[in-house]
Amino acid sequence: MGNVKEIYRFRHKHILGIEQFSVADIFYILDTAASFKEISSRPIKKVPTLRGKTIINFFFEPSTRTRLSFEIAAKRMSADTFNIAASTSSAQKGETLIDTACNLEAMNPDIIIIRHSSSGVPSLLTRHVRASIINAGDGAHEHPSQGLLDLMTVREHKGKIEGLKVAIVGDIAHSRVAHSNIVGFTKLGAEVRVAGPATFMPPYIESLGARLCGSVEEAVQDADVVMALRIQKERQDDPLIPSLREYSQFYGINRSLLRHARPDVLIMHPGPINRGVEMSPDVADGAGSVILEQVTNGVAVRMALLYLVMGSEGSRVG
Ligand code: CP
Repeated sequence: MGNVKEIYRFRHKHILGIEQFSVADIFYILDTAASFKEISSRPIKKVPTLRGKTIINFFFEPSTRTRLSFEIAAKRMSADTFNIAASTSSAQKGETLIDTACNLEAMNPDIIIIRHSSSGVPSLLTRHVRASIINAGDGAHEHPSQGLLDLMTVREHKGKIEGLKVAIVGDIAHSRVAHSNIVGFTKLGAEVRVAGPATFMPPYIESLGARLCGSVEEAVQDADVVMALRIQKERQDDPLIPSLREYSQFYGINRSLLRHARPDVLIMHPGPINRGVEMSPDVADGAGSVILEQVTNGVAVRMALLYLVMGSEGSRVG
């Protein structure tokens, strides 16, 4: 039996972070997303794959891209989708998160997609509900579907991830997108460099596999990918930089800075962009920008995740 190849199976019931995935898992998700992408360009953008499944979008923080693309992904696969926001839920009347989750569970959903300001909430919910939990962003911890759609976008353009130089610039400490991307890109063999003000840099950054650069010029030198991050004011009690003008001057991505990068550099941003702060408008809208392609790929990646967590039933490892 030694020469019998083991058949790959996706075994994750919950999607909590890119940390949980093997390299094979990530490529399988990206390949599945690539196969689903074409559905969104059909005249009739619907397949019956998740017919009869119930999916709840439960968002405790604002969102445009993630909430809507999960809903679109679910609807394109014929699932029944329901949205609940903390601001209009009984959380406002004092109901605990766990009580709310148990009440959602009592309605027998198949998947609960959750965004929350506290790291670890999606993991906590897995202990209280039978539904699959998908993390749509938890505090500064992880935003796995964003990391996966970023990997998909880069692979589409560069044909590979291994060996690429990826610069991530800005508020690394408060960014779940940065965390997921550092983990994802390094797992697949890219060199990840990070740059930003010292107050935006977590002390453990190099333990994630990223190289901490002393300047943004050093980070973008010969870079294949430059990703800018929004300043996450919602996760800062006090201002951590002297002014936005100074931040933009030293860390904003502009055309002059990009002379240090490769000529075919990809420009990325998870959104929402604060134009003129972390990125100049001509860069956001100009050559090499794949920011809106990231959004398009977000639907395909989320279709893949919904499909895979449902397909993994019976062979689940969490
Ligand atoms: N990238 C991202 O998470 O965007 P939203 O906050 O709009 O979902």
